[in-house]
Amino acid sequence: MNQKTSKAGSVVVVIFGASGDLTRRKVVPAMHSLACEGSLPSHVPVIGVARTPLSNEAFRERLLDGVDEYARHKPGSDICQLWPRFAERYTYLAGAYDDTETYSHLAGRLAEISAETGAPAN
Ligand SMILES: NC(=O)c1ccc[n+]([C@@H]2O[C@H](COP(=O)([O-])OP(=O)(O)OC[C@H]3O[C@@H](n4cnc5c(N)ncnc54)[C@H](OP(=O)(O)O)[C@@H]3O)[C@@H](O)[C@H]2O)c1
Repeated sequence: MNQKTSKAGSVVVVIFGASGDLTRRKVVPAMHSLACEGSLPSHVPVIGVARTPLSNEAFRERLLDGVDEYARHKPGSDICQLWPRFAERYTYLAGAYDDTETYSHLAGRLAEISAETGAPAN
């Protein structure tokens, strides 16, 4: 990993509004293209939060549709073969912004990721 990406390797990204249009159309396609270009490590864990019940698999399928449609670098192109490794770091947590339980669950998920990866808890 180069110096540009090593710092980003120690974070966990939380996306609120993860079932929405901005995540599908802009945020994740941009993160995927940055990872393809080597400007963002492909192994950064990402937790998506929104109310709609979604499995991790359904969340990833929704993201893949958006990346296929909108990203500068498409999955499976000559430039970028990252998708499976990139997508496996994305998990989904169902919860409302105004429900304190959402933040308890999020804290638990962050602690799990921290224990698995050694990334400092956010
Ligand atoms: N789309 C764009 O290109 C774009 C560009 C610039 C700025 N923005 C701004 O970015 C924001 C999001 O836009 P969007 O287009 O993604 O809107 P959207 O498609 O309506 O998505 C809203 C997201 O927020 C979640 N959400 C809403 N209320 C919630 C609550 N009480 N608790 C938890 N999650 C909640 C929704 O999920 P659930 O319904 O599953 O909870 C959904 O994931 C807006 O402020 C918009 O103006 C969007």
